[in-house]
Amino acid sequence: MGKIRKAVFPVAGLGTRFLPATKASPKEMLPVVDKPLIQYAAEEAEDAGVDQLVFITGRNKRSIEDHFDRAYELEMELEGAGRQRLLEAVRTILPSRMSCIYLRQTKALGLGHAVLCARPVVGEEPFVVLLADDLIRTDGQGVVGQMTECYARYGCSILSVMEIPRDETDKYGIVETRPGPDGELQVLSIVEKPAPEDAPSNLAVVGRYLLTSKIFDKLECTRPGAGGEIQLTDAIAALLADEPVIAYPFRGKRYDCGSKLGYLQATVEHGLAHPELGADFAAYLRREIT
Ligand code: UTP
Repeated sequence: MGKIRKAVFPVAGLGTRFLPATKASPKEMLPVVDKPLIQYAAEEAEDAGVDQLVFITGRNKRSIEDHFDRAYELEMELEGAGRQRLLEAVRTILPSRMSCIYLRQTKALGLGHAVLCARPVVGEEPFVVLLADDLIRTDGQGVVGQMTECYARYGCSILSVMEIPRDETDKYGIVETRPGPDGELQVLSIVEKPAPEDAPSNLAVVGRYLLTSKIFDKLECTRPGAGGEIQLTDAIAALLADEPVIAYPFRGKRYDCGSKLGYLQATVEHGLAHPELGADFAAYLRREIT
């Protein structure tokens, strides 16, 4: 079974929930403590053995390209000043074995359309899709690593899922599942943003997908769905007719950093867990925030 080498990062959304912060810069560049969201996602893919990062960009792409590029002047300044730790932090953002490819989605027609833009680069290989605004903290292995292990076992498309409160089904893609012979969850159906009374379960898909290349054929035929956008969920629903798809309840805590509340929660919890800042930040919260 093929290794997963390519990760697709759709970063062309308008990020309207985070305006005005996202007017001139993509939401994936919002920092949580000291790293932008897109770097957390790139590191998760890298830890899983991915070596090609494919960014689907829209307007305002420059900051992402610059972030993953070398910054020679800055590196020289840091080196000259003997600031080795910062130099290391800047130099290792992109390990040398990794390459970046940037493709343009000229119009924000939806997540499904953004993924389809990656077809010329991904070709016939299975690949992962990461939505960087879903930040997922784990104690050990990242979610993409967990999913590639699951792929090595089952060899089919895999969706990361978590249980959500029933009244929030209209914010997610929701799956109906049944237990398979090895305890895996086989997806029977999937629907985008159903009203709570219509939802087949409270099992929601979050921003990590491992997909076979067959999804591209389905995306080619997918018409605009919920919200007038070409939905990845609808293409996955079509894929189910041809191939098995597994729902994978990942280990980790997910923060919806596309929403202001989720972003604040991620910032506080990552701040408290930060090796250098955590203790001082906890003392500050105890002292100042009642
Ligand atoms: P969202 O549903 O979060 O939409 O997209 P959005 O436009 O980014 O944000 P809001 O809802 O207006 O605040 C989910 C993911 O799909 C990408 C986004 O960048 C995000 O990572 N996306 C969405 C695209 O790349 N292109 C699109 O046309 C739509």
